[in-house]
Amino acid sequence: MSILLTGGAGYIGSHTAVELITAGFEVIIVDDFSNSSPEVLNRLKTITGQNIPFYEGTILDKTFLNNIFYENDIEAVIHFAAFKAVGESVEQPLKYYKNNITGTITLLEVMNAHKVKNIVFSSSATVYGINNISPLTEELPTSATNPYGYTKVMMEQILIDVAKADPEWSVTLLRYFNPIGAHESGLIGEAPNGVPNNLVPYITQVAVGKLKELSIFGDDYNTLDGTGVRDYIHIVDLAKGHVLALKQNLGAQGSDIFNLGTGKGYSVLELVKAFEAENHVAIPYVIKPRRAGDIATCYADASKANKKLGWKAQKTLQDMMRDSWRWQSQNPNGYQ
Ligand code: UFG
Repeated sequence: MSILLTGGAGYIGSHTAVELITAGFEVIIVDDFSNSSPEVLNRLKTITGQNIPFYEGTILDKTFLNNIFYENDIEAVIHFAAFKAVGESVEQPLKYYKNNITGTITLLEVMNAHKVKNIVFSSSATVYGINNISPLTEELPTSATNPYGYTKVMMEQILIDVAKADPEWSVTLLRYFNPIGAHESGLIGEAPNGVPNNLVPYITQVAVGKLKELSIFGDDYNTLDGTGVRDYIHIVDLAKGHVLALKQNLGAQGSDIFNLGTGKGYSVLELVKAFEAENHVAIPYVIKPRRAGDIATCYADASKANKKLGWKAQKTLQDMMRDSWRWQSQNPNGYQ
């Protein structure tokens, strides 16, 4: 029996593959490399000592997906495959709705046809929208401010409705806060296409000399130092959360939702200082106006995952800063 990872060559998928294999699961990866690289598979082989079965293609292709389910004995799916750039989603909404929503529906139809009814889904803290107050708990109302966020809200709803309609389904929605860091081998990590949108890849690219300076988007928020506060979580902690969520999912029915965060927020300036202190590299920055759509503060109430899954983030901010830098400094151009 195998676990199929859609988008398994991506940042979160690849780290989850490692932790699943460590926990004794057999893994199959499907990926279209739209935001990842074939080199990831070589790196995964070095880390795990295994040739992970791999299929290149898109989950929009039903025949392709069907074939994977015919050829393998799949027990459950962890569904990572989705586009995730907020700004691009505003400019190209149909690209996002088609890939994320139609891709998910196609996957669910194929799973249904093959009677594979266990799924763990990559959701995001973005579904808490801009009006809920941190710490964020799972039962708060969801909303969105951009097409990317709406796709996450809609995919969650589709999955909840599927589980409601057919009690054989077991659906687990994982709401990620801000994953950063990298595997401690330095072999896999986050490799954004083009100029990074997210804070930590931007910082590491400044550190490695690819970008001149960091722009800090706003220093007039109602936070300790005026810069935005987020719940940064080490990617390996996040990946381990998937293993525990999967184990719980395999014995469950219906749907359940878990925040995967640390429960603690850090500001942009705190993060910059922690990176400099841990790695002895200077990060020049300038203060810029607020970025559209950003909120002051976002962090998790992570107690539900602790109670029901026995999961808790273990790694410190220093671990996250050190591992992010090891990955970037050893791979200045990502997987290229
Ligand atoms: N920031 C900067 N400069 C940058 C990039 C970011 O100052 O160059 C700031 C942002 O304003 C924010 C913080 O750093 O205060 C974190 O920003 P990120 O872009 O790294 O992360 P976000 O919290 O905006 O978004 C992330 C994911 C989304 C997800 C969201 C859920 O990128 O996909 O968390 O809360 F939806």
